[in-house]
Amino acid sequence: MKKRVLIFFCVLLSMGAFAQKFDLAKTPPMGWNSWNKFGCEVNEKVVMKMADAMVNSGMQASGYEYIVIDDCWQISRDKNGEIVVDKTSFPHGIKYLSDYIHSKGLKFGIYTCVGRKTCAGRPASRGYEYQDARTYASWNVDYLKDDFCNNGDQNSVSAYSLMRDALYKAGHPVVFSICEWGSTKPWTWAKDLGHLWRTTYDIRDNWDSMISIVELEKKLSKYAGPGHWNDPDMLEVGNGGMTTEEYKTHFSMWCMLAAPLMAGNDLENMSKETKDILTNANLIAVDQDTLGKQAVCVREIAGYEIWIKPLVKKGKAVCLLNKSDETKIVQVDFNYLVKETGDYWKKDKYELKDYHVTDLWKNTEAEMDRKGLFTVTIPAHSVKVYSFVRK
Ligand code: GLA
Repeated sequence: MKKRVLIFFCVLLSMGAFAQKFDLAKTPPMGWNSWNKFGCEVNEKVVMKMADAMVNSGMQASGYEYIVIDDCWQISRDKNGEIVVDKTSFPHGIKYLSDYIHSKGLKFGIYTCVGRKTCAGRPASRGYEYQDARTYASWNVDYLKDDFCNNGDQNSVSAYSLMRDALYKAGHPVVFSICEWGSTKPWTWAKDLGHLWRTTYDIRDNWDSMISIVELEKKLSKYAGPGHWNDPDMLEVGNGGMTTEEYKTHFSMWCMLAAPLMAGNDLENMSKETKDILTNANLIAVDQDTLGKQAVCVREIAGYEIWIKPLVKKGKAVCLLNKSDETKIVQVDFNYLVKETGDYWKKDKYELKDYHVTDLWKNTEAEMDRKGLFTVTIPAHSVKVYSFVRK
């Protein structure tokens, strides 16, 4: 009898019945990551400065909480297999930084890879998953980004399941950020493994790269929800390769997509324009809406698109996106937008008079005539974003 019970438990175990991820990230994670701006030049001073700036700039008050060191913090393994920190860039070790970041009321994240080496050729976690997870727990790591370079043809589901299980066993709650670039369609399998999964290869700090990622997200809306998000990659806002209008479009679309908002710029030396974009409370509220829906594109005509994101309490956010290279003059019919739910089969039964409509970048009531019409000029590469809140 005892033997049978044992076999039963072994079968359950092998089916992953006890494997779990932590119950976190009910809204998309918000924070800062070192890669986009600093790459392998990241070091202790930079990370501490970014933590200070996150507090002093008002970003923490706007909801940003994770400070994540990306690639290049690790240098080798010791004779016991323990990961060794690169002491030239991190002279006091990782726990010291983690403590500093936590002392600011922020959370701390780190990076590894499912292969033997990271994308930058540093030692990674293959074969050391449980040991590394224990090390991260001892450093109070709250967020782990797990990359896919040098994966040696591992099956992505088993590779990420292994680390998910190791993190869970180590016991310290961790947001698990799966970074396999969409190469094996993680939206179809990662929901129970991680809290977010990259959907594309790396973003670049230019319009074409950013807007091509938006295009790829069109088919992925249905896979996002509380605790499991599509990740179109970290923000480039403030890194200099796009105009202010383009960065506003980038930020607006990430919020419409319920994307994780991981700033990727130098927080200590950002312009007022950059700070105003990253801390825009109206747009952040759209991103962080607790219904957790990703916007869908309901119309596209010659580079002009209408995106709708359902919000709690029968609200919605609407983004009019001009992807084209020329100015568009558009007649907006707010009566039509009220009916449009983002679901082809369901039309809203409410009327325009039932809603407060706000222009989110202007932070004013939306302009329209008595019939609910408005002719708007939308410059190339820019957006208008509205929220509809039930009266
Ligand atoms: C990959 C990831 C990036 C970054 C680098 C680090 O390219 O997609 O986001 O983490 O590796 O080497």
